[in-house]
Amino acid sequence: MLTRRELAVLAAAGALAGCAPAYAPATFPAPRSRQFPRDFIWGVATSAFQTEGALDADGRGQSIWDVFPRNKIVDHSDAAVAVDSYHRYREDVALLQGLAAKAYRFSLAWPRIIPTGAGAINQKGVDFYSRLVDAQLEKRITPYATLFHWDLPLALQRHGGWANRDTAQRFAEYAALVAARLGDRVKHFCILNEPAVHVFAGHVLGIHAPGLTDAALIGPVTHHLNLAQGLAIQALRAARSDFTIGTTLAITPSRPAQDGVAPLNDAAAKGFDAIWNGVYLDPLLKGVYPAQTRGFIEPSLHANDLNVIRQPVDFIGANYYAPAYLRFDLMSKAHIAPADPPPRTQRDAFNREIDPAGMWQILKRLRDEYGNPPVLITENGCSDPFSDDPAIQNDTFRIDYLRRHLEAVLSAMEAGSRVGGYFHWTLIDNWEWAEGYRSKFGFVSQDRASSLRATKASYAWFKALAMTGRLNAAAG
Ligand code: GCO
Repeated sequence: MLTRRELAVLAAAGALAGCAPAYAPATFPAPRSRQFPRDFIWGVATSAFQTEGALDADGRGQSIWDVFPRNKIVDHSDAAVAVDSYHRYREDVALLQGLAAKAYRFSLAWPRIIPTGAGAINQKGVDFYSRLVDAQLEKRITPYATLFHWDLPLALQRHGGWANRDTAQRFAEYAALVAARLGDRVKHFCILNEPAVHVFAGHVLGIHAPGLTDAALIGPVTHHLNLAQGLAIQALRAARSDFTIGTTLAITPSRPAQDGVAPLNDAAAKGFDAIWNGVYLDPLLKGVYPAQTRGFIEPSLHANDLNVIRQPVDFIGANYYAPAYLRFDLMSKAHIAPADPPPRTQRDAFNREIDPAGMWQILKRLRDEYGNPPVLITENGCSDPFSDDPAIQNDTFRIDYLRRHLEAVLSAMEAGSRVGGYFHWTLIDNWEWAEGYRSKFGFVSQDRASSLRATKASYAWFKALAMTGRLNAAAG
């Protein structure tokens, strides 16, 4: 991603600058108020493959995750049961009601609705989502449906998956079908979920489905996801005029590693930012790709694509967990490599820094660089330490994590950010992709042997918050 010339200039600058500056943690102004607006949306987020189970039920087709090798999952588990939400969705909704949640972000499994990704519809799959949606509406919970949370129909992968431009067209047809079958009751949509994670974990690192390790796929897969999103938004808008439509991105503050040559690490962080954040935000909100990504994208770009991708959206869904640290790496093709967070920083279960200031920074960035669009925090949360142990029921660490991140949200709102809601990841401990069941992000635990579900301390804490909108201060 860096040219030879840029490298030479940066290396020279690095030599002049000497060693890296001392690490100064990011900060944000403490919020003046602890009260969220009355109409703030308190919700939780889940995804189909991580929760539903019932992979063979009622005509569902296979997804790329169904065939992802179990030996690439840390605990060698699969999602055949997951949280069994396909059968226990009424209990899920009762838990949402008990939490005083106003909204539920879940995803539709494309292969449940269109088993081969194109053509024939599986009515039983549509019926399942109808029941799930009706159960929410009965309890006055607003459904937020994500159209793509990584479970691509396997049949489409056999034709190249997202590397094939036709997949974007198939996705638009699926979106139109969803509008026709569920759009009388589902009014809120997230088109994609974290396309950057799907591109890199699934196509470059091979740690997620479809398990590919080919950096040459970055350009086509990224562009076709963007194109699919634009076409799907057009299809939804053509079907009805009463939809609220956004998309969910893993907006990640990209920071230079502290060790090594500072200007080179800076350049690595900027390069990562372009291909991770800018490559989705810029074409959607500005109609252009970031300059640094054009080399990747242009071979896949057709005339008019940027007009299709730049669609008016009603909100940007921001998922925030942690900042990323990057360093310059001569050995890698793009000269960028991930780095550990600075020493002595607090870490999450993935060894990422826990930094609420990152939440504040991404909201500031959306204000300053992208015209301050309405935002929903569509995911935020933390896992218990990864292990096979039972979940921690008295999860005070989670309450602390949420409180601090919500302080950052309040502070950003006081600075002018238009944040309309917050969806906690997640409702019930579920199947965390490559981490399997060792990761536990829920407000509710589920014992896998007995299937018993139990609310954690954070469930009651969040309920009080959702009912009053008032963020309590840390005790002591
Ligand atoms: C995401 C992932 C979720 C993860 C969550 C915790 O959107 O980031 O889709 O499925 O489970 O982020 O890592």
